[in-house]
Amino acid sequence: MAPLSTTHHDQPKLSILLHLVLLVFSVSSYCLCAAEPYLTLDYYKSACPTVLEIVRKEMECAVLSDPRNAAFIVRLHFHDCFVQGCDGSVLLDDTIDLQGEKEASINKNSLDGFRIIDRIKNKLESDCPGIVSCADILTVAARDAVILVGGPYWDVPLGRKDSTTAGKELVSTNIPTAEEGLLSIISKFQYQDLSVTDMVALSGAHTIGMARCENFRGRIYGNLEATTFSETYLSNLRSICPAIGGDNNVTAMDYLTPYFFDNSFYQTLLKGGGVLNSDQEMYSSLFGIQTKELVTKYAHDAIAFFEQFSDSMVKLGNITNSDSFVNGEVRRNCRFVNT
Ligand code: HEM
Ligand SMILES: *[C@@H]1O[C@H](CO)[C@@H](O)[C@H](O)[C@H]1NC(C)=O
Ligand SMILES: *[C@@H]1O[C@H](CO)[C@@H](O)[C@H](O)[C@H]1NC(C)=O
Repeated sequence: MAPLSTTHHDQPKLSILLHLVLLVFSVSSYCLCAAEPYLTLDYYKSACPTVLEIVRKEMECAVLSDPRNAAFIVRLHFHDCFVQGCDGSVLLDDTIDLQGEKEASINKNSLDGFRIIDRIKNKLESDCPGIVSCADILTVAARDAVILVGGPYWDVPLGRKDSTTAGKELVSTNIPTAEEGLLSIISKFQYQDLSVTDMVALSGAHTIGMARCENFRGRIYGNLEATTFSETYLSNLRSICPAIGGDNNVTAMDYLTPYFFDNSFYQTLLKGGGVLNSDQEMYSSLFGIQTKELVTKYAHDAIAFFEQFSDSMVKLGNITNSDSFVNGEVRRNCRFVNT
C-alpha cells in the first residue's frame, strides 16, 4: 500500500480504484491459468513459418554425423521438463548471478548436445529473431531426434517460454537415478502428473544412447536386482566398467540395436539384461506388477509402444511452469537469460 500519503478525503475513491485494479488483475491472472491448454500446433505459423524445417535440417546433420546426438537431445528435453517444467532451464550456463543445472551431479559429465541447440538457435535468430523459444526448439528437436533414428512421429504443441531462472537443487529432487527404487521413481513421475504407463513408455527412450560405468557398476558387481546376464555379456560389461575407475566409460543400454529406436530395449529387460538397475526393476521388482505387464506388452508390440511413447512425449512436453509462462521470455542465446 504505497500511496498512503493521500489525504483522508481521497481514500474511499482510491480504495475503490484499488479494488477494481485488484479485481481486473485477479480475473486476468485467473484466465491465464484457465486458458491452459495454451500450447498450439500453429504457434509460429505467421511469425516463423520455417521453424520446423530449420530444426529438422539441423537435427538431420547432427544425427547423421553421430547417432548419439539423438540420444543427447532426447535426454536433455527430459531433464529440462522435470525441473521447473519445459522452460529451457537446463540450457542455461553458470554465470555470476545464476547457478545453472548443468553442474548438478546427475547432469555433470553426462548431459550433452548443447551445441546442437546453439546451432539451431543461431539459424532461427537470423531467420526470425526473438521469436522461437529455446524450450520449444528443444521439444521439436527431441521429436525429430526420435524420428531420425527410426522412432515414431507426433505433432508438437508449441508456445513455451524460456525461464529466467534455473533449478539446480531441483535436479536431484526431481530426476530419478539408476539406483533408485521403482516406487520412488514412479512417485517422481506422478509428481509431474505422469502415470506409471507414461513412466514405462518414456523409459523406452533407453532404446538409444549410452550409460556411464558409474551408473551401472552396482548392478554388475553387486546384487541389486536379480541378474541373468549371460557370462560373456557380464564379462564384457565388467571389462568396460572395472570395479574401480573408468567411471565415464560407456555402454549401450540396448545392446541389441544401440542406435535404432525400436522396442528391443524392453526385450533386453525380459531377459534380465537391463544395464540400469532402475530399468530392470520395471520388469523384475516385486512391486512392479503393473510395470512388468507394460514391459512385456511393449516388448511384444512395437506399435503399442510407439503409440504410447508419442502420447507420453506430448505429456512430458506439456509440463509447464506457470511462472515461466507468465514471466518468461524468448532467449536470444539459449545459454543466457536476456539482459
Ligand atoms: C525412468 C527413470 C529414468 C532413469 C532412472 C534414467 C536414468 C538414466 C541414466 C542413469 C542414464 C545414463 C546417464 C549416464 O550414465 O551419463 C540415462 C541415459 C539416457 N536417458 Fe534416462 N532415465 C530415466 C528416464 C528417461 C526418460 C523419461 C527419457 C526420455 C524420454 C530418458 C532418456 C535417456 C537417454 C536418451 C539416455 C542416453 C543418453 C546418452 O546417450 O548420453 N531417460 N538415463
Ligand atoms: C498437451 O497440451 C496441448 C495444448 O496445451 C493439449 O491440446 C493436449 O491435449 C495436451 N496433451 C496431453 C496428452 O496432455
Ligand atoms: C575403461 O576405463 C579403464 C580405466 O580408466 C580403462 O583402463 C579401460 O581401458 C576402459 N575400458 C574401455 C573399454 O574403454
